Amino acid sequence: MSLVNVCVIDQIAVLEINSPPVNALSAALRQDMIDAFSQVQSDEQIKAIALHCLGSTFICGADIREFDGEPIAPHLPQVIHLIEQSKTPVIALLHGHVLGGGLEVAAACHYRLALENTNIGLPEVGLGVVPGAGGCQRMMRLAGVENAVKLATSGRPVKVTHPDYSGVCDALFAPSDDLFENGLSWINSQLEKQALTPKTTGLNSVDEVPVDWASLKKTVARAAKSNPVPGQLLEQLANEYQLPTLEAEQNTRELFLELRQSVVAKALRHAFFVEKKMQAGRSKNAFRIEQTAVIGAGTMGSAIALCLADAGFEVVLLEQSQEALDRGMGRIKDEYAKSLAKGRINQQQHDARIALISASCDYQSLAQTDLVIEAAFESLEVKQSIFSKLDEVCKAGAILATNTSYLDIDVIAQSTTRPESVLGLHFFSPANIMKLLEIVKADKTSDEALEQMQQLAKKLRKQAVTVGVCFGFAANRIYTRYGREVQQMLLEGAGIEQIDTAMREFGMAMGPLSVQDLSGIDIGHNARSQYPQPEYDKGYFKVSAALVEAGRLGRKTGSGFYNYSAQQPTIDQQVVDIIANLSKELNIESKLFDAQTIQQRAILAMICEAVKVIDEGIVSEKDAIDLIWLHGYGFPRAKGGPMFLAQQWGVEQLQAQMSELRDSQGEKIWPPLDLAKYLA
Ligand code: 3HC
Repeated sequence: MSLVNVCVIDQIAVLEINSPPVNALSAALRQDMIDAFSQVQSDEQIKAIALHCLGSTFICGADIREFDGEPIAPHLPQVIHLIEQSKTPVIALLHGHVLGGGLEVAAACHYRLALENTNIGLPEVGLGVVPGAGGCQRMMRLAGVENAVKLATSGRPVKVTHPDYSGVCDALFAPSDDLFENGLSWINSQLEKQALTPKTTGLNSVDEVPVDWASLKKTVARAAKSNPVPGQLLEQLANEYQLPTLEAEQNTRELFLELRQSVVAKALRHAFFVEKKMQAGRSKNAFRIEQTAVIGAGTMGSAIALCLADAGFEVVLLEQSQEALDRGMGRIKDEYAKSLAKGRINQQQHDARIALISASCDYQSLAQTDLVIEAAFESLEVKQSIFSKLDEVCKAGAILATNTSYLDIDVIAQSTTRPESVLGLHFFSPANIMKLLEIVKADKTSDEALEQMQQLAKKLRKQAVTVGVCFGFAANRIYTRYGREVQQMLLEGAGIEQIDTAMREFGMAMGPLSVQDLSGIDIGHNARSQYPQPEYDKGYFKVSAALVEAGRLGRKTGSGFYNYSAQQPTIDQQVVDIIANLSKELNIESKLFDAQTIQQRAILAMICEAVKVIDEGIVSEKDAIDLIWLHGYGFPRAKGGPMFLAQQWGVEQLQAQMSELRDSQGEKIWPPLDLAKYLA
C-alpha cells in the first residue's frame, strides 16, 4: 500500500502522506512521493497540487533509522527537485512539526500554508549532520540569509509566526481551524484569481543584505558546546551563500553525506534514540495525580515545587516554621520574576503558576494530596519521622516519595504502614532545570506507583530512569566513583586546574573540582561520613576530607579547591601542600599526567562502576547509564555517554587499561569485569 494517497477534488490533486508516527522521509515514502507527483504532474486537468500530511504533524525530517546504513535511492534531493520544477503549482499544508527534510520539502513547494502553532526548524546539527537537501539555501531565500543560518546552526525550531520567518508562509490559519478545508479554499480562491504560479523562490539569488558573520561565529561557538557540526556548517555557508542554489545545495549535501557516518553523528543519534527508548512504554493505568505537596522549602524543595507548578499541578509547600516557608516562597517568586523578565513566561502564566502553590505548616493540609515529595534535611531520623507523620495524615493510595540522594529508602519505607506507596524521586539540582529524574524502586514499591511516576516524569518533561536502592542509587554512585578517581589522580600528581581543564576540554559542562566547590565539599563529605569508609581505598576522598577539616568548604566559604577572593578562582599553596602531604603519608608516588590520561581514567572509572550497577540490577540496561550522564551531569552529547564511548573503545582496549589500573590500585577498586557481556 502506498504511503501517499492521491485524490482529486475539483481541479486540485491532493497528495496525502500517511506514514505514522511522524511522517519521516523513509526510502519507501520518498519513492511513493515521486510516484504520486509524477502521476499528477502529467495530468493537464490538474491546476494545483496540495501536499498534506495525516496525523499530528507534517513531515518531521529524514528517517534517522536509515542513517546507519548506506544512503538508499531515491534520494531526497530527487524528490525536492521534482516538486520545485513542477509546472503545476505545489502548495504545502503545514501543521505540527516541519523539520529537517520536512522543511526542505516545504521550502521547495511553491506556496506554504500553515496553522499558526506549527514549528519549523532545521534540527540536523543536533544529529551531527547538516541539512542535506537544500534546506539552508531555500530558507536563505525565504527568510533571509542570517535567519536561515541561525535556524540551521542552532538546530532550534521556531514557531511559524516568528516575525523573522514571516516570509516563509503565504497564509496562516488559527490553530483551531481545519487546515485541509482552509487550505483548499485558499487554493481555490487563488485559482479563481489566476494568481497561482509555480514560483521557484528557492532558485532566486540571495538578497544583498550584509551579514554579521563574525558575531554569528561567536554565537555558534558558544551554543554548540562540544558539537563541532554547527561550526562546520557555518563556515561552509559563510563561504558559499552567494553561490547559485543548486551548486551550494550539492556542496552542503556532500558535507551531509560525509558527516552522516562520523562518530559524532553516531553519538548524537544514539542519544536521540536512547531518550526515545527510555521514555517509551504504554501506561496501563490512568494518571491519577492532581494535588501534590513538597515537604521542605529549601533550595531543592522550592525548585521541585516550581517544577510541579510549571506542569500545572497544585502544590502545597510544607515547612516547620513560617520563616522557612516565607524564605521558600520568596525563592519561588524570585525565580518566576526572573522567568517573566526574560520573556520565558508571560504575566498570565506567571500569576497562574504562583497561584498553584500554597504554603502550610500543618500536616493536616496534606490529607487529600495524591503525591508528597519530601525534600527535607538529609538525615535518616528526620525522614523517618516525616514519613510516619505522612502515614498518619495522607489518604490511602497517596504516593509518598523521598528526594534523598543517598539514604536507604527501604528503611524510610518501614516507618510507614504502606511501603508499597513509598519510593524515591531523586531530582538533580537545580531541579527545575536539570532534566534527569531517578525514580527509585524500593523493595516493596508497587508497580502501579512506579508507573504513575513514569507518567509524572513525562508531564514534568523529565528524562526518567527507574533505578534500585543502593548507596547513591545509580547516578550518584557512578558520579562518586568518578569523583573518587579524580581525588586519586590529585594524589598521584595531577594538578587541580589540570584536571578541571582536561574534563572541560573533554566536553563536561564544568570541571569536577569546580563542581565540588560550587555544591559545597561538605555535602558529599557528610553523606559519605554516615557510612563506613572503604579502608582498602587510599584515595577515597581523602583530599576533600582534609579540605573540610581546614574549613575550605567551597565557594560558600570563599575557598575550597580554589580560592575565590579574586575575580577568577586561583590556586592556593595551602591546598597544594595538603595534597602533597597526603600523598606522602599514603605513600603514593607522583607522576606526570596529560589531559588524555586524565580524561581516560575518569571515563574508565565511570564505566567500571556503571558495569557493576548494571550487574547488580540497579538499572536494567546500559542505555540508562548514558541517559543519566547526559541529563544529570552535563556529559557531552556529541560523545554519546560513557557506555557509548565504552563501545567505541572496545572491550579489548578497556580490559587492557583497567588491568593496568588494577595492578597499581588493587582489585577492589578495579575488579575484573565481564565487559563483553554488556558491550557486545
Ligand atoms: N526518523 C525516524 N524516527 C523518528 C524520527 C525520525 N526523524 N523522529 C521521530 N521518530 C520516532 C521516534 O523515535 C519515536 O519512535 P518510538 O515511538 O518508536 O519511540 C516516534 O517517532 C515518535 O517520536 P516522539 O516520541 O519524539 O514524538 P514527539 O511528538 O514527542 O516529537 C518530533 C516529535 C518533534 C518530530 C521529534 O520526534 C523529533 O524531534 N524528531 C526528530 C526530528 C529531526 O531531527 N529531523 C531531522 C532529521 S535529519 C534530516 O531531516 C536530514 C535531511 O536534511 C536530509
